[in-house]
Amino acid sequence: MEARPGDGARALLRILRDLPGKVRPEEPLAPHTTFRIGGRALALYRPPTEEALVEAVVRARSHGFPWLLLGGGSKLLVPDRGFPGLVLSTAALRAWREEDGTLTVGAGTPLSRVARWGGWKLAGIPGTVGGAVAMNAGTRYGSIGEQILSVRALLPDGRVRTFTPEECRFTYRDSLFRRLRLPVLAVALRPDRGGDLRTLLAERARTQPLDLPSAGCVFRNPPGQSAGWLIDQSGLKGARVGDAVVSERHANFICNLGRARAQDVLELVEFVQDRVVDRFGVWLSLELEVVEA
Ligand code: EPU
Repeated sequence: MEARPGDGARALLRILRDLPGKVRPEEPLAPHTTFRIGGRALALYRPPTEEALVEAVVRARSHGFPWLLLGGGSKLLVPDRGFPGLVLSTAALRAWREEDGTLTVGAGTPLSRVARWGGWKLAGIPGTVGGAVAMNAGTRYGSIGEQILSVRALLPDGRVRTFTPEECRFTYRDSLFRRLRLPVLAVALRPDRGGDLRTLLAERARTQPLDLPSAGCVFRNPPGQSAGWLIDQSGLKGARVGDAVVSERHANFICNLGRARAQDVLELVEFVQDRVVDRFGVWLSLELEVVEA
């Protein structure tokens, strides 16, 4: 028999009780991340509509609960102790509308679908469109920001606003939405059909460890340099803390060999940063989003 949810989870269930869709108390978050790491949320809610998502954020805020938006969970490290608040999954927000060559999609749409529609440079990137926009996901050929026509996002005061591409302030793996923690709700894009999606997928399969759980590249590339190369040249491939290991195939990946804890990953991250500083005098900053509560 399942244990009864604790006080915090029950309080969240209460404030969300009239919203559509299911709220799951004390939901384990590891299965919702590509790293397969992390403890439980106080509650996980998958709003079926944009309006329900907005309302849930507004209520969590006004009742003083921490909240976290979960897209594809592909660049996320959830602490072992979990998240003491409301996790909102965008998975059900998958509206899809094509008009005059423009695609408008909900934040929870898998990025792979958009890549197939017309985003070859985004081929092979996991996650959702909302998460990809927030962190301006991309490959070395280009980033999603270059295809954006507009982004609808939630402001801190509960209003919804549409942003022009300039207002999104896209930079390398970053945007206004990530910096200000504004939930992305929907995105309009133009296609980019210049290159070959399949070549990129094959390149990725050849150079990256796609067979083990990971969060993709852990560190940002320093300007003009490659984090993977720096880590490799520091002799760190195969370095291991618990079940977290620096990939032998691509040194900027940390893989979960099975039972890695968030703490193992964080220790390995520090170890890599220290060794690369010693060897090259370069401090590697994180691309991985470490959840703090
Ligand atoms: N390299 C090594 N050893 C390694 C890994 C790479 O020597 O273990 C060398 C490669 O030989 C190459 C250079 O480093 O000369 C760059 O490597 P790669 O072509 O794999 O590109 P990257 O800069 O490491 C970036 C993105 C990837 C994206 C690839 C392909 C970042 C931090 N990484 O990797 O994105 O898939 O280009 O376009 O921007 C991600 O963001 O999660 C990610 C994997």
